Amino acid sequence: MKKYLPSLLLVLLLSCNSDPGITLDFTLKSPRKQTVVKVYKNAEGKVSYTMNFKGKPVLDESTLGFELRKSGFLGDDLKLIGVDSSLTNERWKTLWGEDASVHNYSRNYGFYFEDKSDGRKLNIFFRVFDDGIGFRYGFPQQDGLQEIIIDNEQSEFKLTGDHTAWWIPADYDSYEYHYLTTKVSEIDSSLVDNSLLAASTIMEKHAVNTPLTMESQDSLFISIHEANLTNYPGMTLRVEADKRTLTSSLVPSTLSNWKAKVNTPFLSPWRTIQVGEKPGDLLESKLLLNLNEPNQLKNTDWIRPMKYIGIWWEMHLQTSSWDYESGRHGATTAKTKKYIDFAAKHGFDGVLVEGWNTGWEHWIGFPDREGVFDFVTPYPDYDIEGLAAYGKEKGVELIMHHETSAAPRTYEQQLDTAYALMQKLGIHGVKTGYVGPIIPVGEYHHGQWMVNHYRKVLAKAAQSEVMVFAHEPIKPTGLRRTFPNMMAREGLRGSEFNSPGGGGNPPEHLTIVPFTRMLAGPIDYTPGLFKLNLDQYKAGYSVPTTLAYQLAEYVVVYSPVQMASDLIEHYEGKPAFQFIKDVPTDWEISKVVDAQIGDYVVIARLERSGNDWYLGGLTDENARDIEVTLDFLQPGVSYEAQIYKDAPDADFETNPEAYIIEKKQVKMNDKLMLNMARGGGVAIRFKAL
Ligand code: NOJ
Ligand code: CA
Repeated sequence: MKKYLPSLLLVLLLSCNSDPGITLDFTLKSPRKQTVVKVYKNAEGKVSYTMNFKGKPVLDESTLGFELRKSGFLGDDLKLIGVDSSLTNERWKTLWGEDASVHNYSRNYGFYFEDKSDGRKLNIFFRVFDDGIGFRYGFPQQDGLQEIIIDNEQSEFKLTGDHTAWWIPADYDSYEYHYLTTKVSEIDSSLVDNSLLAASTIMEKHAVNTPLTMESQDSLFISIHEANLTNYPGMTLRVEADKRTLTSSLVPSTLSNWKAKVNTPFLSPWRTIQVGEKPGDLLESKLLLNLNEPNQLKNTDWIRPMKYIGIWWEMHLQTSSWDYESGRHGATTAKTKKYIDFAAKHGFDGVLVEGWNTGWEHWIGFPDREGVFDFVTPYPDYDIEGLAAYGKEKGVELIMHHETSAAPRTYEQQLDTAYALMQKLGIHGVKTGYVGPIIPVGEYHHGQWMVNHYRKVLAKAAQSEVMVFAHEPIKPTGLRRTFPNMMAREGLRGSEFNSPGGGGNPPEHLTIVPFTRMLAGPIDYTPGLFKLNLDQYKAGYSVPTTLAYQLAEYVVVYSPVQMASDLIEHYEGKPAFQFIKDVPTDWEISKVVDAQIGDYVVIARLERSGNDWYLGGLTDENARDIEVTLDFLQPGVSYEAQIYKDAPDADFETNPEAYIIEKKQVKMNDKLMLNMARGGGVAIRFKAL
């Protein structure tokens, strides 16, 4: 972004005299004028904004400001002492991602304020894109305001009606929910089920975690989230009593009795409002990435998208355990060797092994979890050095697992030794986990203290050439641009809930996730279950999707690190496994071909540095025939479409594993009918001929 040089002068000049200030009344337009923001003072003198998209109102008058400890509200008695603007128009390349090239194109505005009565200074910055806006606050360095305790950020988002919303509650510890679809006025945490969550703190009944995605009566798709969440708590959105106004509600620290404590100069995360005319517009938007800083890592050779398998699902099926004392320990040397052999044979890059280190006898459910895990001591039946070497011979890397059991202070003390071991063994990926309530009590997964912890881990990992796959994380806010070792996060109800004990994610789940959680960033969903009928583990239980749906997940659910999560024996002899072997994890171009949030979604992606396209489609509990035009394919090229689809009698409840494979030659602009069973899907490789 350009520097605000010319107007800084203006700021200085005006602040030196007793000028009443510049009148706050500005119209901000995006480069192609699709998005228009008005910034002004409302009748009560509060700094306010409205937002329009292609002539349709997106937000009505919404006010901005802060409640600060000791000095009180900042936002209703402000004098504007400087303004500036600039244009950003650049293209940058992603190291990995859904798309190779990103256009960063916005008009940027800075408003520099001073409180009339006590001189406190506050800056507000807007970036206006053609597909939405971001705004953030700046507390510049100033006398009398060095350390700021924020009791409340009061950013309003006043909706223009009672929109349909796809939401999860404002749980301070978890995003692991099925989405609810209601009117905004009906958002109510008593509708949600948190009974299976190891940690859950819901303090506000009518509030949600972001991204919050909505459809307005005039068919605009709107999503509110945040970008570049740094040294600040996560933002939830509270539905106010008028049932139309959403207000930022920051995750608190009840231990410290504040929302945030920061030092000046300070820049808040961006508050983002993405808008589109179709659901796919939201997903194709690059606004969040553009509101993060460019890559800070110099050497990135060690960062690479990958596919992996792992000793994982068996613990969730409870046929083995993480801990050793049970006598059913899963992470053994012999089994890991088998996994390494399988990975080598089928072209997987990594093998994740959970339960390799001591401490699992004392994790979930124990309040005293400090000092339990050390992340360097293997159980006696796990030869970590030998296995790392064995993997190396076979071209397969172990993926480290650090379950912190939500004891971040212990983890921070161990970071050096833990990452040194990884470096010594040549391991470049770690799956982290934070199961359970945070220790100390009174801190939450999504509060400022934990946001800073997750960042420390990410920075430490980068220094040690380690990629992070974080479970029970803080939500993504586009940081992968700045730290491209931030590969994927869970931060949603992942496929682990498809175990018999988890009850299953309904097929509708992944028709909503791409337009809510996935707007924020890559997802470690752990797809690819092939054995769906789990009757032998729990009478009558099957994973509530078809097998073709599981394949479609590899295209629909974006991640640079994709797991084939089933037991390896469940892939043996299955022709559909070929799709998992073929599907890339890094893309040149991604397109939402068709979607209705909550009903179905079809996404196509072009492999990076290659010519093959892949398509994934999946549907909710209703069977659907969706006709798509193959206009994304390259002109003049013929493709063999390798189609993995539900068998005619497939059904997620009665016959989930039935699929067929068809091949046909297609070209750009041909039409293709996608036949999806109830809870079904389709996965296609378009192999360029
Ligand atoms: C929860 C994670 O989401 C899951 O993938 C992992 O197996 C367990 N924690 C144990 O760390
Ligand atoms: Ca989890």
